Amino acid sequence: MTLAYLNGTWQPLEDARISPLDRGFLFADGVYEVIPVYAGKAFRLAEHLARLRFSLAEIQLPSPLDEAGWTALIAELIERNGGGNLSLYLQVTRGATSKRDHAFPPAGTEPTVFAMVSPMAPAPADAPDTTPGVAAITLPDCRWLRCDIKSVSLLPNILMRQQAVSQGAAEAILLRDGEATEGSASNLFIVTAGTVITSPKSPLILGGITRDLILELCREHGIACAEQPISEDALRSADEIWVTSSTREIVPVISLDGATVGEGRPGPVWRQVAGLYTAFKRALADNV
Ligand code: PDD
Repeated sequence: MTLAYLNGTWQPLEDARISPLDRGFLFADGVYEVIPVYAGKAFRLAEHLARLRFSLAEIQLPSPLDEAGWTALIAELIERNGGGNLSLYLQVTRGATSKRDHAFPPAGTEPTVFAMVSPMAPAPADAPDTTPGVAAITLPDCRWLRCDIKSVSLLPNILMRQQAVSQGAAEAILLRDGEATEGSASNLFIVTAGTVITSPKSPLILGGITRDLILELCREHGIACAEQPISEDALRSADEIWVTSSTREIVPVISLDGATVGEGRPGPVWRQVAGLYTAFKRALADNV
């Protein structure tokens, strides 16, 4: 049984209830985080909390907890659910008021804070010899211009992911003005002539925590890397394509819109970087 946190109370997930007047429900007026937990320890917690702080500030919602408060809440959520490897979900909305009104509710309206965990599936990098890689498609990026805010307003992402799934692909890679931005729920990397390239941070992408760690590991281990725009041509001619996220880590893409990427299997640079990522993660878990 999963124990969830909702506004200061703990209860079985299936019993948790919010008001239909909650602005998260009515307007998707809220932000979220997804934090991986390995061996009972939240991974890159400081970075996730910094991004949460950023998202809250950008939607002008004062954080209901300070850093120590979030850290304690997350530790308790992990402990109450028995630790292990988990995907931890945290959501803050602008709360519920007595009527539906687009403008912000009266000062003093309590935000809604919700947190839950779910089991974390093994990532492709955990079995690099057997992982087959995934198919992806490209789609026009139909989202707003503040994709750097981790907003719960995910309808465009949902529709694009579903289109990928209905075409037998795992992810949609998004194109805006001739450049590939990111995936519907992931950041994008390509490898060209041995250099690992990812889109620069901007309001057009979510600044992924996994993305940042990959760049950090590349720099530390002398793997050439760059943050630069990825043109559609560069994407289509890349030697390797990866999509990255906290829940799936680094996923090699072996076909794009039906065309083979590289040699049609996870590439050597993926293998190297995924190995570094796994080693980093395991070292942290061993130190619990
Ligand atoms: N999504 N870009 C988008 C649009 C995302 O939704 C995500 C992650 C990322 C990768 O960010 P990170 O490495 O910090 O997980 C990039 C999460 C996992 C989700 O919505 O479930």
